[in-house]
Amino acid sequence: MARMKVAVLISGRGSNLQSLIDACADSAFPAEISLVISSQGDAHGLARAKDAGIRAEVINHRSFNARQGFEATIDATLRAAKIELVCMAGFMRILTPWFVERWRDRLINIHPSLLPAFTGLDTHARVLSAGARFSGCTIHYVRPELDDGPILVQAVVPVMPGETPDSLASRVLAAEHRCYPVALQLIAEGRVRIRNELVEVANVLPPADIIMFNPAG
Ligand code: GRF
Repeated sequence: MARMKVAVLISGRGSNLQSLIDACADSAFPAEISLVISSQGDAHGLARAKDAGIRAEVINHRSFNARQGFEATIDATLRAAKIELVCMAGFMRILTPWFVERWRDRLINIHPSLLPAFTGLDTHARVLSAGARFSGCTIHYVRPELDDGPILVQAVVPVMPGETPDSLASRVLAAEHRCYPVALQLIAEGRVRIRNELVEVANVLPPADIIMFNPAG
């Protein structure tokens, strides 16, 4: 069966991109990464794409007068590459409703908290300030509102005694790397549908859409 053609949008380190590259390296995996788009020319993720032999493009918003031109260029590049699903992985630009609607239900994002709690930046510091006992990560379909949209996969990460934002970030990141390939696999296998803005996942036993992340491995 043809593998789903995926693009990954990045702006920096690209460790989640790497987790997707590693999953797709298995020829039995139902998706392939055909394109990486970075909003930053110096993103480390570009080297990861290159090492994996994946086409990578830099589309920097500063080269455009308006957001419309920036997003229209991303849109045209995705369409020319016949991309079926777009995965945002540390992409640091907020996309306008125009772009989000054009890719509705074909655009997913990863966020380092248990949404709908702790949207936005500085997530881990805010989790600790709030005294939350658990954090985690979420892969969700993208809607025009920031960090909003039907939730596909989550992992729970306990907050440990003496936790710092950095220590929590690194354990949440490990959970992210496990979750994103699961989310991509579920979509590429055609198991996911959205009804009344809720995700339904078919025929997954045990429920792989809910991962309890065990920090001990
Ligand atoms: C991740 O924590 C992701 O959840 C957030 O940005 C970070 C990107 O990290 N949206 P990386 O570039 O994938 O290493």
